[in-house]
Amino acid sequence: IYRKTAPTSLPAFLLIGPSGAGKTSLLTLLERGNPSPTHTSQAPLSVEVTLPSDTTAASNKYRSASDPTAQKNSRFLLIDTPGHGKLRHFASAQLVAPQNLKGIIYLVDAANLSSDSAGVSGSNSSGLTEAAEYLHDILLALQKRYTNAKTSKGPRETPVLIAANKMDLFTALPAPLVKAALEAEITRVRDTRAKGLLDSGIGMDEDGDREEKDWLGDGGEGKFTFKQMEEVNVMVEVKGGNVVGGQGGEVGEWWEWIGRQL
Ligand code: GTP
Ligand code: MG
Repeated sequence: IYRKTAPTSLPAFLLIGPSGAGKTSLLTLLERGNPSPTHTSQAPLSVEVTLPSDTTAASNKYRSASDPTAQKNSRFLLIDTPGHGKLRHFASAQLVAPQNLKGIIYLVDAANLSSDSAGVSGSNSSGLTEAAEYLHDILLALQKRYTNAKTSKGPRETPVLIAANKMDLFTALPAPLVKAALEAEITRVRDTRAKGLLDSGIGMDEDGDREEKDWLGDGGEGKFTFKQMEEVNVMVEVKGGNVVGGQGGEVGEWWEWIGRQL
């Protein structure tokens, strides 16, 4: 008899991103093969997922598909988190909780990234700003986790997939543009945060210089690029797809990325 609650030893992936990006839809698609209608999430939700047979887990490269170990290695836990601004503590808690966290999937609505469109939250911040602010905070948390653990043994790599969703919509930006837009907007977010921190005197050492550890990326100067995160063992990749549309969506590149981390 199989229990629905998954054993904690399974490798886990965390689904994070702004509200409405499609996280819960993706979870139902990966679990059942087609997306179910969703409501905005108010609590985290984990399900056990098996890689499709045409995707190979990295640890199974040399195993035959009928090998029982191969079947075990292609199972993982997917943890959905609410994207609403007031419920993001669930995601931050999960960032540090599971020791077997294999990677983070940051889902964005690629059709809601133009800097002049109004944000879903009703505030005057655009979809791009919201996506960049949340991602900035996640990456900064991962950077801090790395620098704080440096004294002992730094955490191993944290792979981050930026899944540019809703590619079925003609207004969606293609993945390379999603990457460029997020990098540029994170640069802006970082500058804004820097000004705020400098004004309040936080984030400076005794001499009034910038405290490097509080800034995302290369000491917080110049343009931010995802590549700068490699210095703190955070490997970022951006890949497009869509949960809705077509036969069971277009999520092949995301499956492939998950398989590589397993
Ligand atoms: P929160 O729970 O509020 O954080 O949002 P969420 O990220 O879980 O979003 P959810 O999965 O509830 O999806 C929001 C809406 O986007 C739903 O109406 C989905 O049907 C729609 N959606 C999700 N993926 C796609 C996609 O690939 N294309 C299109 N066109 N719509 C999508
Ligand atoms: Mg949801």
